[in-house]
Amino acid sequence: MLPRVRHIGRDTLRQWSLAESILGSRRVPSQTVWSRDQSTTVTTPPKTIFSGIQPTGVPHLGNYLGALRQWVTLQSEAAKDTTLVYSLVDLHAITVQQDPKQLQQWKKESLAMLLAIGLDPNKSTIFHQSDIPAHAELMWILSCQASTGYLGRMTQWKDKTANEKDSSKKLKLGLLSYPVLQAADVLVHRATHVPVGHDQAQHLEFARELANGFNHTFGGDVLIPPETLISPARRVMSLKDPMAKMSKSHPNPNSRILLTDSEETIRRKIKAAVTDSMDGITYDPEGRPGVSNLIDILYHSDAHPAYSSQDELAKDLADLSMRELKDRVADTVETSIKHIRASYAHFLHDNDHLDSVAAQGAEKAAKSAAITMKAVKSAVGLG
Ligand code: TYM
Repeated sequence: MLPRVRHIGRDTLRQWSLAESILGSRRVPSQTVWSRDQSTTVTTPPKTIFSGIQPTGVPHLGNYLGALRQWVTLQSEAAKDTTLVYSLVDLHAITVQQDPKQLQQWKKESLAMLLAIGLDPNKSTIFHQSDIPAHAELMWILSCQASTGYLGRMTQWKDKTANEKDSSKKLKLGLLSYPVLQAADVLVHRATHVPVGHDQAQHLEFARELANGFNHTFGGDVLIPPETLISPARRVMSLKDPMAKMSKSHPNPNSRILLTDSEETIRRKIKAAVTDSMDGITYDPEGRPGVSNLIDILYHSDAHPAYSSQDELAKDLADLSMRELKDRVADTVETSIKHIRASYAHFLHDNDHLDSVAAQGAEKAAKSAAITMKAVKSAVGLG
């Protein structure tokens, strides 16, 4: 089966022209789509957006450009009847052993960060995954349908097992079954669209397969196979190893820009980014991965882009020195994330507000999940 993956266009407006066609126009209510001859109307059901992030430390620029910024765009641009659900997926975080105190702190910081990027709890449901037992419950039911062969072929599992070849004791079941939990996250809220970076595409294809398989086995349309919305900044690369994606787990902290980094730190990290010694600036992701990653970051961070592609931008940068390019990237990144740094400091210290947002989110998420669990349990004979 072909993957149902959409790549949304790059800046907010262009991005939105396609996203709008997916999620319903603001001029025309999303419920109603006029047919070509305008003589009849076709109704489409309201959309539900779901996405998640692991609360395992401060998100980096890859998380922001690859996912979080889309979440905020969708919140302000989606049709009015679209439901937006965003989760801090703490059950996913414990597939790697975590220090319990550290995890508690990260959960709080991550919630403050979702508010700092601009998510509004009155418009979006924001919640801690472990507050809603239905995620784990649906995971178990789906586990009874999921093929271990398929799970064992998934990239993330193969990458991790490659590093732990000699010690199968270290390989935990949770790491293998992680994609089933991810499928449950999406399916339990009847998500129609899931905005993510490219690294999550395979997991979401698996979620579609599970939903289709479940519906086929038990009859009816109990679960909704979701569509994946891949961000234009599909894969932001490490500043130190531009062949690998920027990640929270890379041992070198200079490989990533955190959303809380000061201007000085951003400049220092970008200045020290691995590039090459060729003359001039060109966009060539295979031949010049470091320089091309900087051009990608510049292209996707610019709030008022004047270029329609990285190649076009690179032509304008051709005569810059590497140092000038890095200064330009640092200026643009700082401009695009400085507002987040300021609001994060504000939200992090308001414990009462954070608690109330989490409680409000859990209440809404529990109601949403209960509807699916009722149908699922009834379909399999548990209800
Ligand atoms: P996580 O926490 O690793 O990442 C959160 C989001 O950030 C995106 N991302 C990137 N995008 C571009 N370039 C990068 N270098 C980069 N690094 C991370 C990810 O694609 C993701 O969208 N398994 C998921 C969390 C999850 C989830 C879900 C997502 C659990 N359940 C249901 C969507 C739907 C994860 O570990 O994301």
